[in-house]
Amino acid sequence: MEHRSKAPFPAGFLWGSASAAYQVEGAWDADGKGPSVWDVFTKQEGTTFKGSNGDVAVDHYHRYKEDIALMAEQGLKAYRFSVAWSRIYPAGRGEANERGLAFYDDLINELIAHGIEPVLTLYHWDLPQALMDEYGGWESRRMIEDFNNYAVTLFKRYGDRVKYWVSLNEQNYFVSYGYETGLHPPGVRDRKRMYEVNHIANLANATVIRSFREIVPGGLIGPSFAYKPYYPVNSDPANILAYENSEELNNYFWMDIYAWGRYPAAAWAYLEDNGLAPAIHEGDFELLASAKPDFMGVNYYRTTTVEQYGLQQRLELGHKNTTGAKGSTKPTGIPGMYKTTANPYVETTNWDWDIDPQGLRVGLRRITSRYRLPVFITENGLGEFDKLEPGDVIHDDYRIEYLRSHISAIRDAITDGVEVIGYCSWSFTDLLSWLNGYQKRYGFIYVDRDETDAKELRRIKKDSFYWYKQVIASQGEQL
Ligand code: NOJ
Repeated sequence: MEHRSKAPFPAGFLWGSASAAYQVEGAWDADGKGPSVWDVFTKQEGTTFKGSNGDVAVDHYHRYKEDIALMAEQGLKAYRFSVAWSRIYPAGRGEANERGLAFYDDLINELIAHGIEPVLTLYHWDLPQALMDEYGGWESRRMIEDFNNYAVTLFKRYGDRVKYWVSLNEQNYFVSYGYETGLHPPGVRDRKRMYEVNHIANLANATVIRSFREIVPGGLIGPSFAYKPYYPVNSDPANILAYENSEELNNYFWMDIYAWGRYPAAAWAYLEDNGLAPAIHEGDFELLASAKPDFMGVNYYRTTTVEQYGLQQRLELGHKNTTGAKGSTKPTGIPGMYKTTANPYVETTNWDWDIDPQGLRVGLRRITSRYRLPVFITENGLGEFDKLEPGDVIHDDYRIEYLRSHISAIRDAITDGVEVIGYCSWSFTDLLSWLNGYQKRYGFIYVDRDETDAKELRRIKKDSFYWYKQVIASQGEQL
């Protein structure tokens, strides 16, 4: 399609950066915080790279002022962070912990004092362990009430200062990693349970959006979806069908619920045929359809290419091993539906993720034509091994190139008619990569620590810090 113009990013565009509580805060048991499932899971033998965990992380809990000063120096307009549920309710529900609430008051006030818009994520995977112990967490419908109770507490406390909210971060990942591959807590491998959990998470998401409408009338809320657009490997009709299957099962399966409150037909038929459909109670679909988000939050890192899953290949179903670097991944897929394969046209990262900026433009257009919702890019970035060189410099030109090409793809998508309200890079400082420790770095700010030694956690600006500063100052004109 031809460009009408290279229209600039709209005024008020949220040039931001993102993080998540467990990945940055540390202070895992400070000031009355209860344990989360991640506090417990990472301490089990063999779950993470070199046994790394978020006990200290990058100590953002104690250094948030230093970090926010750096954000202000960069000119950041928005900072997306998550609240750790078990700081607010150490047992998941019951009595609220005032010290936990006060920490996020301070964080939010500090951001606002520096002219940075807070973007608050309610749930970025760190479920209070108490709710897991009590009734199995997301496997119980009791989660809907407890999640809503927690969310309402935050809406009432921070709704006067926080306008932008993210409900669930990457629901599609926390259910599939938690209940299909078993690589995340609670480490279950059972697809039937995954679809049950997912349905309950959908209901919880809809419930908090409805509460939000009443308590924070001027605010905007949406989920952050881990969006990997799919491509067919070629135009063999069997592969086109495999591609349609993967879109239905991996993307529309979630986004259709968010936007319309219904599951896509082919995916639902597949679930029913295979005994995987979740239990539906009376009123579920009415609730789901009554909670349209204000925006579709998109976490974009890569595209995935698929082909048909032949009979022979069905026997070799493998799961992605995400703890290792390049070369450690096996194809994944669903027998009879599709399997993933290499895309010969794109480069990959050191973690075997396809680098595909144009895929972002394609994906944004697909979302826009299907849902007509504004998009908030709530994550995008490159995880790499960075090298701290003498003189405290980090030349991360590969990250600059990744971000530049993706922001440029967003600009193109805007000229195509997509409404994008903001862009958050992942991440501001380096942080814990859930399974990959601290070697896989995403930040503009290098944090000097490794998997086992937190050292002094010095903050050092990478080349990309200065580059993004100029992108923001020029409103995306100087990429
Ligand atoms: C998405 C998740 O939301 C975030 O927590 C994670 O670290 C990044 N992707 C990178 O994998």
